[in-house]
Amino acid sequence: MAAEGWPRCPAIYEIYPRSFLDTTGSGSGDLSGILTKLDYIAALGVDAIWIAPFYPSPMRDGGYDITDHCAISEAMGDMQTFRQIISGAHTRGLKVLTDQVINHTSDRHKWFEKSATRESGFDDWYIWHDARPDGTAPNNWMSYFGQPAWTWDHRREQYYLHQFLSHQPNLNLRHSAVKDALRDQMRHWRDLGVDGFRMDAITSYLHDESFADNPVARPQVRALVGGPSYSPYARQDHRYDMLPGDGAAYCDNVRNWAGADAYLLGEINVGNHSIEIADSFTEEGRLDAAYTLDFPERGFTAQVIADVLDRMQGSAGGRITMWLSSHDQARHSSTMGDGSAHDAKFLAMACGCLPGPWLIYQGEELGLPQPELTRDETTDPFDLMFWPDGAGREGARVPMPWNETSRNYGFTTGTPWLPMRWDAGLSVAAQQADDASVLVLYQRLLALRQTHRFTEGTVDYAEATGDLLHLRLRTNGGVFIAVINFTEAAQQIEAIEGELLLASGSGVTRTHLPARTATLWRLA
Ligand code: NOJ
Repeated sequence: MAAEGWPRCPAIYEIYPRSFLDTTGSGSGDLSGILTKLDYIAALGVDAIWIAPFYPSPMRDGGYDITDHCAISEAMGDMQTFRQIISGAHTRGLKVLTDQVINHTSDRHKWFEKSATRESGFDDWYIWHDARPDGTAPNNWMSYFGQPAWTWDHRREQYYLHQFLSHQPNLNLRHSAVKDALRDQMRHWRDLGVDGFRMDAITSYLHDESFADNPVARPQVRALVGGPSYSPYARQDHRYDMLPGDGAAYCDNVRNWAGADAYLLGEINVGNHSIEIADSFTEEGRLDAAYTLDFPERGFTAQVIADVLDRMQGSAGGRITMWLSSHDQARHSSTMGDGSAHDAKFLAMACGCLPGPWLIYQGEELGLPQPELTRDETTDPFDLMFWPDGAGREGARVPMPWNETSRNYGFTTGTPWLPMRWDAGLSVAAQQADDASVLVLYQRLLALRQTHRFTEGTVDYAEATGDLLHLRLRTNGGVFIAVINFTEAAQQIEAIEGELLLASGSGVTRTHLPARTATLWRLA
């Protein structure tokens, strides 16, 4: 069951506000930009928007280092604009999710200052630990970003834990006063009309209080640890720094704080047993849905999809969210396809026809490829740490091209915070005028999802034959079949007795699928 008033498998559009639309000429997007584009988003046909952080932040980690979780960054706008977004979204039938980043705060947060200086009542708000006798860190834990997870604070003469940057100290989420503060934060946004939350880094919330060293990852574990393989993080089996026995049960708290009618979407930041972990995080009374790193990290292939569906056991009922791109991943049009409009449409259908909610990252509806940035242009610490390895996170944050006639593609009248060098034909305006565009394909597919809600169906059948995926979903309203050809060659298929609802490309017949083509059928 999804939260009250929500479809079981919503299509959710992620907005990374800094890169969406700038209305002040600052070069960075803002809340008014989101307000201006609500009609555009509603016309896409999604059910909800997720707005990535817009809170006050020193911007060490793209806004995920927050100094006040209940306020709005001056650069982003004000509370009045936020209220207008909520009411404007609701008027258009869109729900609103905001990001709840409760694993950590900024090291500039007043709570951290108080804790570091041992102000009464705040002593244990973060994870402090003495050094070993020789002054080194308490154990071998690594941060997700590939550096030691402990940083020394001279004021307390202790180390503090951070699973991400040293500027993002981990909150002590077992502490009752911290829990009360988090409940109040969530209530604050709910009272403003927010319909739910995307829960950042939810698998990092708790650790084993023994603080034992993580063992070395055996080869088969190593392949499944989240994060890039060239990071030392991948060399550990994260047995003690993540997901202790009570890790999943902590979602009960999150549910209580958010309210029974809030939609809760969790980010599962681990590779190992990801689907099984997502399952336990979405048990009754916990999150509505979760998304894992399976497709971005293991590859979006017929075999990986079949494996994920198999582990969902066909009955996940909207609990596992399908997605390919986010503000943390290189654009999938380039990493999983050849960057062409043809492949972008193919990948959209291959993902959007899978059972479950669907997360769409701003700009993927245009088939945006991954832009190249030079080292000097890059600001993201994660990208810079491993430069030039890996596709990087920041390319996906290059701002949206709205049109090709205004300066900076209509994104800003100032200097965009990242350089924009989009090819002709990629902008929203160009694609709105082209019936064969990637944008129009997304609209058609989203309309079908809304009309038939076929992704809520139970999986009758899911089989990968080589690179060909056959999927059969049964709903109260009918039986839907997706046949997806991942290969570079056309395939002859067993004749499909049904109505073709949509194909990602041309040349489809009942028995023939061109290369890299996805189709959706409804059985007569
Ligand atoms: C996941 C967010 O999506 C990412 O951008 C951020 O760096 C980490 N969590 C830490 O908050």
